[in-house]
Amino acid sequence: MSDVALSVRDLKTFFYTNRRCNKAVNGVSFEIRKGKTLCVVGESGCGKSVTAAAIMQLLPTLSRIEDGSIVYHSDHGDIHIERLARNGSQMRAIRGAEISMIFQDPMTALNPVFTIGFQIAENLRYHTAMRGRQLRDKVVDLLRTMGIPLPERRAGEFPHQFSGGMRQRAMIAMAMACNPKILIADEPTTALDVTIQAQIFELMDRLKREHGTAIMLITHDMGVVAELADDVAVMYMGNIVEAGTVEEVLRHPVHPYTRALLTSMPVLGKGKNQSIEAIPGSTPDPFDRPPGCQFAPRCPYRVDACATMPAETHTTPTHRTMCWRYEELAADGA
Ligand SMILES: Nc1ncnc2c1ncn2[C@@H]1O[C@H](COP(=O)(O)OP(=O)(O)O)[C@@H](O)[C@H]1O
Ligand SMILES: [Mg+2]
Repeated sequence: MSDVALSVRDLKTFFYTNRRCNKAVNGVSFEIRKGKTLCVVGESGCGKSVTAAAIMQLLPTLSRIEDGSIVYHSDHGDIHIERLARNGSQMRAIRGAEISMIFQDPMTALNPVFTIGFQIAENLRYHTAMRGRQLRDKVVDLLRTMGIPLPERRAGEFPHQFSGGMRQRAMIAMAMACNPKILIADEPTTALDVTIQAQIFELMDRLKREHGTAIMLITHDMGVVAELADDVAVMYMGNIVEAGTVEEVLRHPVHPYTRALLTSMPVLGKGKNQSIEAIPGSTPDPFDRPPGCQFAPRCPYRVDACATMPAETHTTPTHRTMCWRYEELAADGA
């Protein structure tokens, strides 16, 4: 049996607005392994959320999957998600049950006019045969597992009666209700304070250990990556510029962008004397992209060759990068 839960191959997802095309996700490939956490990092606008939305078939109307494949390796065989209708019965059976998502803003997933308990129950009613007492018990159980105090009472409350952290827990309870095989978390704790953040990550980690859930965690926090990731993918302007195990990417980064990203933010546990340097320049206009390597205009290692897009090269079976100068960079300071 394969240890891979989801394989994305050469995925392209474009936006069409005012007859202009934004190649938001321009050929990305990665795998999410069962019982492992893949962290996806990169500056705002690089295509992290669009990649997640493509997997869930929740893309905005102006965008579409242009090319590539998203294969969910279910217990009953491979399913090509990119071939399913957005709101067809097959996709609805998968979404929220086999593949679930938690969002940065819990109100994306929670409806303000229904109680928390009702909404979690709805998800279970749709995807399972649970009814009545069994259903009510399961909902209370889920809320309790998520560390929500007085779960019987709180199940009858509305989202606005919950604090931000509690809402996030309720959304995770809903996402986890059917024991999904894959959990996609898009910056799930950005708006929360650090204590709640730590508790939520602890919850996700437990779900991964106890249920073998494969997790795709989108974050901009390298401390979180160091703590939770098994695998890391670094995105820049619609490409994965470097990917590998957490050890490979954090300890031996080869792509200049990864290196810049790592020195642009503090890493937990590295001490107080880290030198933090902002990445020079800013991300280009997505409608007016540079030819070739998208990072070249900001890259201190830029050479003429960078005007054409570098191919993806493996430096180990698990570590890959897109950079013309990866060999020199791997040799230097690795
Ligand atoms: N709803 C939308 N309409 C138009 N363009 C969008 C929309 N959502 C994202 N984009 C564009 O797609 C690209 C990738 O965005 P996104 O995946 O949201 O980035 P992030 O990595 O910050 O999650 C950006 O250029 C962004 O402007
Ligand atoms: Mg995003």
